[in-house]
Amino acid sequence: MNLKDYITVVQDWPSEGIQFKDITTLMDNGKAFKYAVDQIVDYAKEKEIDIIVGPEARGFIIGCPVAYSMEVGFAPVRKEGKLPRETIKADYGLEYGKDVLTIHKDAIKPGQRVLITDDLLATGGTIEATIKLVEELGGIVVGCAFLVELTYLNGREKLEQYDLVALMQY
Ligand code: PRP
Repeated sequence: MNLKDYITVVQDWPSEGIQFKDITTLMDNGKAFKYAVDQIVDYAKEKEIDIIVGPEARGFIIGCPVAYSMEVGFAPVRKEGKLPRETIKADYGLEYGKDVLTIHKDAIKPGQRVLITDDLLATGGTIEATIKLVEELGGIVVGCAFLVELTYLNGREKLEQYDLVALMQY
């Protein structure tokens, strides 16, 4: 299956010059979505994952079915003010904007092996901040899995010491 057939490239959204990669046309096709999730499960299955961590909001869409399939838990990373209990936080820069990400302080136990998931690797800022949160809690990032990588934004360079997979590259 060629997963790119299910991605819709939207010109000039959310601003001029951006070619937005819309994954909703992959998600709304049951076979394509399952195929994509299964590819990530295949990538992760030898890594002895204890828990999956994904950033709001599209990291949840990818991470939760992978967690269900692997029978491990899922810990959400959210924008500031969304998680109800004690959190730690990390700043990050986006392709267009800046924000703060948080995780519950007890979401990861020291030594746990963590798979990070998201829909898209662009500048890598989101994943870098997510990794920082996981490591601050003593987690070991054993892999990062994405549907799409925008190679021209060089996110991979920020993450050289980590094991990464992206199912599609643009
Ligand atoms: C998008 C995308 C990734 C991130 C990638 O999320 O889902 O999480 O940007 O960009 P980066 O590699 O440059 O950090 P966004 O922040 O738009 O949040 P959303 O998923 O809640 O819409």
